[in-house]
Amino acid sequence: MHKLWLQSFSNEMPLLNSPEEVARWELSQFHDASFSVCLRPEMGDGFEIDGDIITGGPTGVLYGAYTALFSSLTGKKHLKMRSEPAYRLRMLDFWDNLDGSVERGYAGRSLFFDHGGLHYDPQRIRFLARLLASCGINAVCINNVNVLFEAQRLMEDLLPDVAELAGLFRPFGIRLMLSCDFALPIRHGLPTADPLDQTVQDFWRSIAEKIWNAIPDFAGFVVKADSEHRPGPFTYGRSHAEGANMLGDAVEPFGGVVVWRAFVYNCQQDWRDTTTDRPKAAYEHYMPLDGAFHDNVLLQIKNGPFDFQVREPISPLLLSLRKTHLALEFQLTQEYTGHQIDIYSMPGLFSETFAQIPRGQLSAVAAVANIGRDDNYVGHPFAALNLFAYGCMAWQPDLSPRQVTELWCHLTYPSLSASCEEKLVQLLMDSREIYEKYTAPLGLCWMVNPGFHYGPSPDGYEYQSWGTYHKADRNAVGIDRTAQGTGYVLQYPPEIQKRYADPAVCPDHLLLFFHRVPYQAVMSDGRTLIQRIYDDHFEGCEAVDAMSQTLCQIAPSLPEDDSRVCLDRMEKQKLNAREWRDVVNTFFHRLSGADDAKGRKIYD
Ligand code: GCU
Repeated sequence: MHKLWLQSFSNEMPLLNSPEEVARWELSQFHDASFSVCLRPEMGDGFEIDGDIITGGPTGVLYGAYTALFSSLTGKKHLKMRSEPAYRLRMLDFWDNLDGSVERGYAGRSLFFDHGGLHYDPQRIRFLARLLASCGINAVCINNVNVLFEAQRLMEDLLPDVAELAGLFRPFGIRLMLSCDFALPIRHGLPTADPLDQTVQDFWRSIAEKIWNAIPDFAGFVVKADSEHRPGPFTYGRSHAEGANMLGDAVEPFGGVVVWRAFVYNCQQDWRDTTTDRPKAAYEHYMPLDGAFHDNVLLQIKNGPFDFQVREPISPLLLSLRKTHLALEFQLTQEYTGHQIDIYSMPGLFSETFAQIPRGQLSAVAAVANIGRDDNYVGHPFAALNLFAYGCMAWQPDLSPRQVTELWCHLTYPSLSASCEEKLVQLLMDSREIYEKYTAPLGLCWMVNPGFHYGPSPDGYEYQSWGTYHKADRNAVGIDRTAQGTGYVLQYPPEIQKRYADPAVCPDHLLLFFHRVPYQAVMSDGRTLIQRIYDDHFEGCEAVDAMSQTLCQIAPSLPEDDSRVCLDRMEKQKLNAREWRDVVNTFFHRLSGADDAKGRKIYD
């Protein structure tokens, strides 16, 4: 069994009952370190390490144990530290369906479901729970936010099976959540799902009661409503606050939360309609509702205003809501970032995003899981870094990307030489920018093959209904989102507005997100836009070749399975990078008629 970053940890953990027992057992397995554990219930998730004494709350001792062990494995002894998580709720959202498929999953089929019900290997689930706990994750939502018809059964006849699964996660301090379908009452024969209808309210109250009877530490619901054809309160002329609060009230007596997703936009836009600009949608929708949500409702907002693109500015909603509990949502599964074939490391994304959000603004963090039934859980062995880093940085957002990448490399591949480890760290650190260079240029987004989202198709979404247009013509490309254009930039606080609104100070990597720029415009470094696009694509592709060479040097020192999978996927990444380079360069060459100043091959 692949142990990911718990490589040096022992294989067979007996059945244990509580985080404290797990902590003590984990510590007992390391003979060169001897720690004692002291429980202080009031410390909750928090812990203190003073030499060989770990003091912490009921879950804190577990996090303290992993921290102490990771430190001792990286050669740091005699720690004196105190730690508590930046965010109380650190969720992982699985987009798993009951038939075993995983929406946007690139690591094999579901670990939880198959054939219309729960179907799993308890050993693997326990190991998964151990992995998640070791990096601080404390809640998992096990089913797809798009609640397909049969998944509603998780709250019905399959509830006892869900309760059993919850029991496997419990000793690791991880609580279960379920995505729920807003129209569930209708399935049960009610004529409506109107949140203001008393029978609907009673219905949800009784569902909540059944769930909490079966799973006393159940954490709550995740809801995708009125989004991409999912049912929601709009059908009844009700607001999202009314919808979310109704569910919030139903789970309130049990201490539950409702995580309400803010991914609301018009997915049936006419491409001819230039008055609608999709990135504006969530802010326009939720800002007027600030302060209207009940205390146990969290609004879950994607890191950018579109949809987990390679590069997006931060969602303005994350910066502007003041009286609403917020959860930030990342996507670990590499839907738009290479399908776990191409290497794309996310610690930089996490760090940049957290750095822009004022402390205290968020109550929770969530990420779409990149996990499946593959032997290594994540498809590409290096994709485990994204999971690990997410957990660590949801706990401590100011960890540096290098720190967390080094720790992951060291724990995952303890026998790598220092020079190989450094090469691997650098390769991972550079991978995001490289991917960004050979795909859609400078914050333009999309340009992927529609539906599938791997590989280039510059006009693939151009005339579709999803609101994702680049409007490239023979002179210019990009959307003007300044005050003179769609006005999107006005959704940011003034100092950020200033930065994005002026093309002279707007960061290059977001230039085409905010501005419509002529190909011949001169950028800050003196190159024209078109030359920058060509250069990035040639350089990105060359960088993948260089990455491949580095990987060949490291591969013999990796475990055989990892080495095989990495080398095999690298061949695919090279092809993908080449395809992107040539398609994007040809696309812009045909439109602009501009030649590459360096005379490199662009296909006509
Ligand atoms: C993207 C993704 C969908 C997903 C949606 C969401 O649009 O392609 O598969 O359902 O995000 O976050 O709800």
